[in-house]
Amino acid sequence: MKNGVQQLKRRHFITLNDFTPDQIQTLIDHSLKFKQGQMTAQFHDRYAVNLFFEDSTRTHKSFEMAERKSSIQVLEFSPENSSLKKGETLYDTVKTFEAIGVDLIVIRHGQEAFYEELISIPNLRCSIVNGGDGAGQHPSQSLLDLMTIYEEFKTFQDLKIAIAGDIRHSRVAKSNAQILNKLGAKVYFTGPAEWMDESLHAYGTYVEMDELIDKVDVLMLLRVQHERHSNHGQVFSKEGYLKEYGLTKERERRMNENSIIMHPAPVNRGVEIATELVECQRSRIFKQMENGVYARMAIIDSLLNEY
Ligand code: CP
Repeated sequence: MKNGVQQLKRRHFITLNDFTPDQIQTLIDHSLKFKQGQMTAQFHDRYAVNLFFEDSTRTHKSFEMAERKSSIQVLEFSPENSSLKKGETLYDTVKTFEAIGVDLIVIRHGQEAFYEELISIPNLRCSIVNGGDGAGQHPSQSLLDLMTIYEEFKTFQDLKIAIAGDIRHSRVAKSNAQILNKLGAKVYFTGPAEWMDESLHAYGTYVEMDELIDKVDVLMLLRVQHERHSNHGQVFSKEGYLKEYGLTKERERRMNENSIIMHPAPVNRGVEIATELVECQRSRIFKQMENGVYARMAIIDSLLNEY
């Protein structure tokens, strides 16, 4: 603790798993302060670039919004028009941005743990932020999810949180199951048995959706990630998935009075959730997106202010 601020001491932001509960609470508190206007950031002479090698709307543009709200100069970059097309590696691309004076590089990449080589570069003068690595981790999504849950319940202890759907292919499921378990929540998994991930059994229990729905405080739905499936969505019935594993209007009526619906989005309307429920009174899906800007401001602030 220094000047009342919990020290985070990270050069890079790669995963939430190595943060203590107190350090995570500091990030949540700062995210909320940015949202409420009690904290501001003024990094006029600092530069960022966002390297997205996988498609993204929310993470890419809310990092950019967070950077611009923090008065950071944002360099444009698109892999299709860059020297990556001439065979330049990610390593040399990062070294190039370091050489020209960039302070912050946000990267989303399809390769799990793509960052290992980058964060091992001795004395790298810029911070690397993991914007999602394959089916690995999505730590900024986790922080905005934690912020959204904390805003609602003011605690994680003993909250019942179900993560539902395509768990095996989801970096959001992995990041959230691990960190929610660490923070004292009771984590459950539900969805098609073939999409469960045995490595997550240490963090929660598998339960059928119809047994869970009237007990959970938070129902966290996941997108069906056809692009990561070997059969690319063939023999997949949207109506069948919604009926068996998704949030139908009938299931929503059985939820507890104060329980909430979350989804990292993009949402497959009518698949993970009935389309009418996406914007229903319990849904926090668009609030998650709003909170994403402030969570990312808190991440950037911790890295550039080096606390
Ligand atoms: N939730 C999320 O990561 O969305 P994008 O893929 O649009 O960034």
